[in-house]
Formats: sequence, structure tokens, C-alpha cells
Amino acid sequence: MTQLRVGSWIPTEGDTPYTRLGGSEAVRALAEAFYDAMDATEPALAKLHPLDEQGRVSRGSRDRFGMFLIGWLGGPQDYMATHGHPRLRMRHARVPVNEPMRDAWLRCMAAAMNARGVEGEVRSYLDARFAEVADFLRNV
Ligand code: HEM
Repeated sequence: MTQLRVGSWIPTEGDTPYTRLGGSEAVRALAEAFYDAMDATEPALAKLHPLDEQGRVSRGSRDRFGMFLIGWLGGPQDYMATHGHPRLRMRHARVPVNEPMRDAWLRCMAAAMNARGVEGEVRSYLDARFAEVADFLRNV
């Protein structure tokens, strides 16, 4: 987990975004709220993902991202154990990530964190981390 200093908070071994959000259930709920926001407000971004019969982002995508987030935020590394190293740029190589898609992704994550009441130090930390990685993933 990259030691990014935002404001005054630096995550430590026992004090991570994962623990501050409330553990696996809370992180999975954040991932769910993220894709619900995407389905409701960002159709162009949603349709880049595998969709289910109702045209919503698939259960498989939601579960993979939820598992990834748990490990990435400092929780159990089940994603790495199951799917290997995230290699995010490689896994997004077939996805056209331009500025509008980057911004759409960040709007969905902001909406999800609002819906889940994520605020304070952990919120400013996550806002900065997500913005940094989303920009890093731009590939067009
Ligand atoms: C910047 C805009 C982004 C776009 C347009 C985007 C789009 C996508 C799409 C379309 C998929 C589904 C790929 C598939 O199943 O075929 C995906 C998967 C994924 N994305 Fe993103 N993404 C973005 C940013 C991010 C960020 C910032 C993160 C991490 C913080 C992230 C983490 C993931 C993960 C972990 C997966 C699942 C990879 C796998 O297990 O196959 N994405 N993304």
C-alpha cells in the first residue's frame, strides 16, 4: 500500500482505509454503490463493462472490483491470491480510458463515497488516491 500523505493522515499497519471504512462488508457496499451510480448516471462508462440481462454492470465485475478494493485499501489480499497482481494498466489495455471516462469514473466513486458517508481524513486520502490512479490509467 503506497504511503501517500494527504492532509495529516498516513495509513499505518493497524490504521488503514480498510479499517477506517469498516472492513470487508463496508468496502463491498462501497463497490456496489459505485456501480449503482455508474448504471444510473454514466451510461457510456457502464457499457464498457460486461452487463447482465437487465443491462446493469455484471455481478462478476462488481465482485472482482470489490475484492480488489478490499486488498488495495489494506484488507485481505484475496484478489491477488485469486487473480494475481492487479496490473491495472494491463487489465485496462482494451478499455479506452480518455479524460471524459476518467472523470466519469471519479464522479461515480465520489457519488458512492457520498452515499456511504465516507468523509474526513479517509475521504481526502481516497479522493487523492483514486484521482492519481484514474489519471495513471489514461491510455488514449
Ligand atoms: C479511469 C477510468 C476507468 C475506466 C474507464 C475503467 C474501466 C474498466 C472496465 C471497462 C473494466 C472491466 C474490464 C472487463 O471486465 O473486461 C474495469 C475493470 C477493473 N477496473 Fe477499471 N476503470 C477505470 C479506473 C479504474 C481505477 C482508478 C481502478 C482502481 C483504483 C480500477 C480498477 C479496476 C479493477 C480491479 C478491475 C477488474 C480487473 C479484473 O479483475 O479483470 N479501474 N475497469
